[in-house]
Amino acid sequence: MKTAWHDVAATDAVPENGGLEFRIDGTPGFIIRTGRGLQAYVNRCPHLGIELNWMPGRFLEASGCFIQCATHGALFTPETGHCIAGPCQGENLSPLEVSKADGRVLVRLSPERQAEA
Ligand code: FES
Repeated sequence: MKTAWHDVAATDAVPENGGLEFRIDGTPGFIIRTGRGLQAYVNRCPHLGIELNWMPGRFLEASGCFIQCATHGALFTPETGHCIAGPCQGENLSPLEVSKADGRVLVRLSPERQAEA
């Protein structure tokens, strides 16, 4: 069963090499824009299950090449959410489906995430 799309932001509100937070039915999420486009994930580090960022919208490390958990510094590839370094190396962020329509970013939870919310 597919879940509903949620309008989370204007496409131009997501900064280049930056991010934006949102909540869908109580589930924290974030969207980032890199040179490879928009990706969205549940905002939950696989290490301790806490939110990745301390600063609003701040998900990428200084070079902008990786998502970084602010607590213990785990690094994740933006395209896949795979952890390449840190205490949860080898684990993955939970991806969310992303679409764009009429200048808006739409995000959809997976059915498993919907059940958790
Ligand atoms: S809580 Fe994210 S690396 Fe420890």
